[in-house]
Amino acid sequence: MIEGEDDYRDSGLEFPADFVLGSATAAYQVEGAVREDGRGVSIWDTFSHTQGRILNGDTGDIADDHYHRLESDLDLMARLGLESYRFSIAWPRIQPAGSGAINERGVDFYARLVDGLLARGIRPIATLYHWDLPQALEDAGGWPNRDTASRFAEYASHVGNILGDRVSVWTTLNEPWCSAHLGYGSGVHAPGISNDLAALRAAHHLNLGHGLALQELRRAVTKPDAEYSVTLNFHVLRGEHETSPEAIRRIDAVGNRIFTGPMLRGAYPEDLFEDTASITDWSFVKATDLANISQPLDFLGVNYYSTNTVKMRDAAPATADDSRDPAITGSTWPGSRDVEFLDQPGPYTAMGWNIAPDGLEELLVSLHEQFPKLPLMITENGAAFDDVEIDGEVHDRDRIDYLRRHFTAAHRAMARGVDLRGYLVWSFLDNFEWNLGYAKRFGLVRVNYESLERTIKDSGRWFSELIATRRIPAPRGSER
Ligand code: FCB
Repeated sequence: MIEGEDDYRDSGLEFPADFVLGSATAAYQVEGAVREDGRGVSIWDTFSHTQGRILNGDTGDIADDHYHRLESDLDLMARLGLESYRFSIAWPRIQPAGSGAINERGVDFYARLVDGLLARGIRPIATLYHWDLPQALEDAGGWPNRDTASRFAEYASHVGNILGDRVSVWTTLNEPWCSAHLGYGSGVHAPGISNDLAALRAAHHLNLGHGLALQELRRAVTKPDAEYSVTLNFHVLRGEHETSPEAIRRIDAVGNRIFTGPMLRGAYPEDLFEDTASITDWSFVKATDLANISQPLDFLGVNYYSTNTVKMRDAAPATADDSRDPAITGSTWPGSRDVEFLDQPGPYTAMGWNIAPDGLEELLVSLHEQFPKLPLMITENGAAFDDVEIDGEVHDRDRIDYLRRHFTAAHRAMARGVDLRGYLVWSFLDNFEWNLGYAKRFGLVRVNYESLERTIKDSGRWFSELIATRRIPAPRGSER
């Protein structure tokens, strides 16, 4: 790549003093201890224990054993100098069966986590739902079932009562697109259902759950300066083909605007209704739902990893594009499976995702243009690479390079007027990467999955320097 203006490897760019710098994880990906202290079963326990669902048969049973290593992990966060830590609360630890009485021992873990963060001067950013639905609620119909939204609000109210005096930032959902479209559409995520109608119903009930939960949180929380948000993963769409504009519109509707419409504008996009008319008339959207969903937010959480290039297929497939199995009636893109996803130009991370820092700048600027009054925060960005540990060191230059380019992109967006409040790197620790198990490492800190020992990677040190100086560090000789 040519050095200069467009390679996004600027150094020395400075972030404002109040710009939030930190890192993120999610409960099922790091905690382990799945059968301890009264925790109930989640859909990810069931899914990961179903043969063939997860690469290498991995499960989150032990994960990083963070549940038992809380104090030393907190010390590690302090050593890195994290200013904020974004974690998720496992619903089945709080309400093992998804409703009713709370489980005090589960509550205790998160109270210790939050207190431990505060004692170290780290701001807690709590996500209520990072995909681990109590299995009992899935058995009752899961997110396609309207009642799940009410159960989620009830859970939010409990958590707000318990931790509402201490948590700085509340996030309702992480990436509802994945919950709806991967969980119930393509079925590659838990609960592994593949049905277009189920996916669209799930998307709506996730939206509703978000709005109802926000209202409950605002009622329960007592910390006066607490902030409220939701985290979405946006599809940054490109394409040069003559049919690309139509393909981009379709995926933007079912992938992005299906959430930003109701949450931020109080309405579903009309074109989404048209694209999905053969699947549903959307009569599951009730009269008061949109008012309930479109609650004010203090900022929008943005997760970004890469871009997509699309065009319309030359011939629409007869069956779902994700499988030739006739029992599978859903796809990742309900109503738009005639959109074709083209190979992306490289370079790539170990996930096979293309590295495109300009996509992050483009996304932030576009969101700012669409929602000018809404501040943004990058709640996830990072990269998996095939790290190698040699003599207790991990020289992950690729990850530093990725982060340098994306921090540059974020800074450029700010220079173009985007109100960006912070940047949380995914992830603090290597962890359970969903259907790919432990094969993909995203951490700033390496986890040895045999000894569970932690090793700060070079990228962790690089990020520490960025936090301490508030500037993108200049490349050292070996990184040039
Ligand atoms: C996001 C998820 C997060 C992690 C990263 C790599 O979609 O929110 O849990 O798996 O991708």
